[in-house]
Amino acid sequence: VMDIRKLYAETGCFTYDPGFTSTASCESKITYIDGDEGILLHRGYPIEQLAEQSDFLEVCYLLLNGELPSPAEKAKFEQTITRHTMVHEQLANFFRGFRRDAHPMAIMCGVVGALSAFYHDSTDINDPHQRMVASHRLIAKVPTIAAMAYKYSVGQPFVYPRNDLGYAENFLHMTFAVPCEPYKVNPVIAKAMDRIFILHADHEQNASTSTVRLAGSSGANPFACIAAGIASLWGPAHGGANEAVLKMLTEIGHKDRIPEFVKRAKDKNDSFRLMGFGHRVYKNFDPRAKVMRQTCSEVLAELGIKDDPLLDIAVELERIALQDEYFVEKKLYPNVDFYSGIILKAIGFPTSMFTVLFALARTVGWISQWKEMIEDPVQKIGRPRQLYTGATRRDYRPLNERG
Ligand code: ACO
Repeated sequence: VMDIRKLYAETGCFTYDPGFTSTASCESKITYIDGDEGILLHRGYPIEQLAEQSDFLEVCYLLLNGELPSPAEKAKFEQTITRHTMVHEQLANFFRGFRRDAHPMAIMCGVVGALSAFYHDSTDINDPHQRMVASHRLIAKVPTIAAMAYKYSVGQPFVYPRNDLGYAENFLHMTFAVPCEPYKVNPVIAKAMDRIFILHADHEQNASTSTVRLAGSSGANPFACIAAGIASLWGPAHGGANEAVLKMLTEIGHKDRIPEFVKRAKDKNDSFRLMGFGHRVYKNFDPRAKVMRQTCSEVLAELGIKDDPLLDIAVELERIALQDEYFVEKKLYPNVDFYSGIILKAIGFPTSMFTVLFALARTVGWISQWKEMIEDPVQKIGRPRQLYTGATRRDYRPLNERG
């Protein structure tokens, strides 16, 4: 690792690195990834252990504070988050301004950004207490906003948070409960949801996290920065991939057609890619994908879904791709999004909500990274350089002289 800043100061030399494939933009103590070995650690703890033994709010505490909480700290943190789950009543008016068929990610970008207009007492980025309050508010309120976006899209009334429920349970309640019927959250599904949140909680300097840091580097308030992260996550090459996976599996339609799609994915004249395969950093199995695969089986078994045609296609596609020379040579393995869509569909979420759930879970990663950046004395405003390839200097010609 070379610190290029000294070279730049002395010689004016800078690096050209489109896509930042080999440039570290910051130091971080939050998440470690070894893409070749398929290792993911949060604050040193392996993701498999956290997914198996911890719960999402505990992981939130860990990411934000650096250490696992004591029992007393855990109870206090859960109480704090629970206390912040309500959103300002006026926020409901924002939803009514959107078309019913608006993509819920569009609603998320708008409403999460609008939080800065409501919670002025946590927008001073120079006050550590306000930074923490903003972090807690975001972790607590994003699920409420996500559930409201869903409810709005299906024309049902908003459901208020229930603070006697756990984090994932409460989210499922706000999403699927209807006023006229009793609704009881299935504990197996709530546990699976909680695990999905853990698996998406942070992933170091990916596109959306880098966007949050870059937006935050100018001193923008945390709610605005998270809205920027949500916008970045929306793309199909990033958080939009699980939605794209399901669309692809539906388009494939039958196991017999898999070879045709695999062939297309390898054709350089065809823009089609196998969605849910490949990763910028993992050149081995994504450790989260393994847990997700297991969770997928558990959820389908719990819901009594024996022969899910899309799951059958997914399993066969994975088998074929993992044996295919092209995918093996390029180290393209299934990523975390490959199985998450199938689980979310089985639970009852429409595909348009998949990326919203990713954003909900990633909020803690974004805000932890934002906080770390603000507290890092080395950080400056993010200002990438460019290689100018446009026209050289030329003189303006009046309109009547241009042919
Ligand atoms: N299907 C077919 N070929 C692929 C795929 C794929 N899914 N992914 C990469 N390749 C090929 C590329 O065509 C390229 O081939 P080349 O060397 O002959 O030009 C090579 O593999 C390397 O691919 P890059 O695009 O250079 O790799 P990069 O690191 O930039 O992209 C990315 C990673 C965006 C994830 C890519 O693999 C992809 O588009 N995958 C599908 C979308 C997806 O699943 N995204 C989710 C990412 S995980 C997440 O956000 C949580």
